[in-house]
Formats: sequence, structure tokens, C-alpha cells
Amino acid sequence: MRTLHLLLLVFTTAAAAGESRIVLKDGQGKDSVMSQCAICHSLDYIVVNDRILNRAGWEKTVDKMINLMGAPINNADRQIIVDYLALRYGK
Ligand code: HEC
Repeated sequence: MRTLHLLLLVFTTAAAAGESRIVLKDGQGKDSVMSQCAICHSLDYIVVNDRILNRAGWEKTVDKMINLMGAPINNADRQIIVDYLALRYGK
């Protein structure tokens, strides 16, 4: 268990360090996105889709992250995240 914790710590620290150059647009929900969408990959994935996905597209993407990838995002946060993405990064 100690090893697992250590690995997780190293992993999250490395991910956090890599994130520092990505700055998401300000807005309600930004914190939720920054904390929950950077667990597995860079926030680049969001930025490159700026104005490419519409609300339905973002909704589908977030649901894919939850249902297929196993993102631990509850319903309330899902709504906040979809709203943020649709408003700030939607087409
Ligand atoms: C549990 C891990 C995990 C979390 C948490 C996660 N993702 Fe992903 N995401 C992935 C994986 C794995 C891929 C690569 C899938 C692929 O290559 O098809 C991916 C790919 C993507 C892509 C590229 C397009 C696509 O559909 O594959 C986008 C955009 C994206 N994620 C957005 C998000 C957003 C927004 C969040 C927060 C709501 C999020 N991700 C949280 C695992 C995760």
C-alpha cells in the first residue's frame, strides 16, 4: 500500500508540473475542470478542442470520460463542467 501511495504521489506531482503552462479561461467551473480533467491527461485535450465542439459535443466527451474512461466525476460536477466547457470552449 505504501508503494502504491508513493507511486500515486509521483504520478500526480509529475502531472501537476506538466500542467503549469496550460491556463484555462476564467469562469465558473474552471476549478472543477482543472482538478477533475487533469487526472489522466493534460488539459491540452480541452484547449485543442476550443470552438470545435459544441455543447452536445462537450457533453458527449465528458460522458465518455465518465462512462468509458472511468473519470470519478459526480452528477453535480458533471453539470458544472459541461456548462463551463460549453460556455468557454464551445463552438
Ligand atoms: C479516468 C481518466 C480520465 C479522466 C479523469 C478524463 N479523461 Fe479525457 N481522456 C482519457 C483518455 C484515456 C483519453 C484518450 C482516449 C482516446 O485516445 O480515445 C481521453 C481523451 C480526451 C479527449 C480527446 C478526445 C476524445 O474524445 O478522446 C478530450 C477532449 C478529453 N479527454 C477531455 C476530458 C475532459 C473535459 C475531462 C474532464 C471532464 C477528462 N477528459 C477527464 C481519460 C480521462
